[in-house]
Amino acid sequence: MSVAIWAIVPAAGVGKRMGSEVPKQYLEVGGKPVLQHTLERLLSVETIAGINVALGEEDGYWPDLPFTDHPRICAVPGGRERADSVYSALLHLEDRAKPDDWVLVHDAARLCITRSDVLKLIETLRDDPIGGILALPVSDTLKTVDDQHITGTPDRRQVWRALTPQMFRYGLLKRALFDAAEQERLVTDESSALELAGYRPRIVEGRPDNLKITRPEDLPLAAFYLERQCYE
Ligand code: CTP
Ligand code: MG
Repeated sequence: MSVAIWAIVPAAGVGKRMGSEVPKQYLEVGGKPVLQHTLERLLSVETIAGINVALGEEDGYWPDLPFTDHPRICAVPGGRERADSVYSALLHLEDRAKPDDWVLVHDAARLCITRSDVLKLIETLRDDPIGGILALPVSDTLKTVDDQHITGTPDRRQVWRALTPQMFRYGLLKRALFDAAEQERLVTDESSALELAGYRPRIVEGRPDNLKITRPEDLPLAAFYLERQCYE
C-alpha cells in the first residue's frame, strides 16, 4: 500500500518581531512575496500530493498570490498559535490523508528551503515509524540564563537548532497536537508535541541557509541566500 506525502504551511502569524505593516509572509524578497517563494519550492517536490496553507482570519493578501486555483494548494483557516494553525490544517486533510501518510510541516517564513533538503528529509525518514525534523548543530557556546545571570553551560554536542520541514505520520501528529492542546502545553514545533507524547523523533542535518525571517535584518540575508542558491 502506498503512503502519500502532504505538506502544511502555517502562514497565519502577524509577524510581531518583524514589525512591518504587511505581515512578513507577504513582504517582497528578491522580487516575490516570501510565501510565494516558500510554496514554489515545496511545489517543486513532485511527491508532495497537496499543500494546505493556514491563513490568518483577516488575510487580504492571499488572493494576489498565483495559487488560488492551484490544483495542489488549498487555503484553510489558521488559529491563535502556530500549533492551532497546524492542527486546523491537519483537520482539513482528514478526508484525504490516511494515518500512516506523511505530513511535512514547513514555516511560511522559511523561504530559502531547498528542494534537496526536502528530498533528503523524505529519503532519510521514508521507513521510520514516527518521523523527524531538519536541524542544525550549534556552533556557539550556549548559556542558560535566569534574570540576566548565567546559570549553566549545556554541552553543545547535545544541542541542535530545530528547523522545518518537520515530517511526521499524519495520525501520530494529529493525536500529539490534540493532546498537547488538551494539556495546555505550548508547543512551538511539531517535534515538541511528539516528544511530550514520549516519542524520540529523528534529526536530519539541514542546510544553514534555511533561515526563518523573523526580524528586519533577516530580509537582506534571505535575499542573499536566494540569489546564491540560483547559481548552485
Ligand atoms: N504562524 C501561524 N499561526 C499563528 C502563528 C504563527 O500559522 N497563530 C506561522 C507564521 O505565519 C510563520 C510560522 O508560523 O510562518 C512561524 O512562526 P513565527 O516565525 O513566530 O511567525 P509570527 O508568529 O508571524 O512572528 P512573531 O512571533 O514575531 O509574531
Ligand atoms: Mg510567532
